[in-house]
Amino acid sequence: MNKIVVLTEKPFASDAVNKMSDIAKAEKFDIKFVENYKTKEEAYEGVKDAEALIVRSDIVDKDLISHAPNLKIVVRAGAGYDNIDLNACTERKIVVMNTPGQNSNAVAELALALMLYTARNFFDGSSGIELKGKTLGLHGFGYTAKALAELVKGFNMKLYGHRRSANEEEYKQFNVTKANSIEELYKSCQFISLHIPANDNTIKSINYNLLSLMPKNAVLVNTARKELIDEDGLLKMFAERPDFKYVTDIAPNCKDVLNEKYPGRYYATPKKLGAQTKEANNNAGLAAVKQIIAFFNNGDTTFQVNK
Ligand code: 3PG
Repeated sequence: MNKIVVLTEKPFASDAVNKMSDIAKAEKFDIKFVENYKTKEEAYEGVKDAEALIVRSDIVDKDLISHAPNLKIVVRAGAGYDNIDLNACTERKIVVMNTPGQNSNAVAELALALMLYTARNFFDGSSGIELKGKTLGLHGFGYTAKALAELVKGFNMKLYGHRRSANEEEYKQFNVTKANSIEELYKSCQFISLHIPANDNTIKSINYNLLSLMPKNAVLVNTARKELIDEDGLLKMFAERPDFKYVTDIAPNCKDVLNEKYPGRYYATPKKLGAQTKEANNNAGLAAVKQIIAFFNNGDTTFQVNK
């Protein structure tokens, strides 16, 4: 019996946990849930008998995998795998996968919620604005950006997008105007929503030079990663542009300064919750279990990201 360990500091909804267990057991896979762990040591203890590991934003580094001598596969139940040391896994010949698209609607709905919350001045009772007719820039054009493009159709926003690898057809399909450069995207849009991964090319790439291109009453929405933001640039933008607002699902390191100095212009969710819905947990959790079963039973490596 192959042993799957689900290591989640932020657990899946109980419905997803039950369904993941049922699928694994039906296929004669042993499955153990290590949830709400508080220390690295608890995580190390939890993974020691794992042959397959399912995680969310949990850190999978050299130390963790050194405590899992039988580990063959890690599946990130979600999109971004910046929490996983791919080199360390590759060295150990551990296959790493994600579950692309499975939680994208949940994250897109949160991005829309943050936009509406900001447009209505964080529900403070003052007169706000409507999204209708405003410009929205999708920075990145993967599953989540496309889900957001679908959601805002009813709001009649003008959509712009930028992604190096997206083709013309995709833009057309979602009624998105292609911006020829990132600079053009930021110049054109009052709202910008980030949908790019955090990697060597993107970390701190959202800087003052880029943000300062945004038109009056600019709103930056971040449901992606806090590491994308150059926080010195963000602070400069807050200081120089009283019309600028930042709303995010992942509080920046400078959150105390923003809360103290710029009330009404900054909001962060209390905990990263973009993908924290029953539906997204079901989709991503079940996909992760199924991908592991297909890997062990048929050698299927379709969603491998460390090829
Ligand atoms: C993702 O990359 O899939 C999202 O950021 C969700 O992350 P989470 O599983 O930690 O909620």
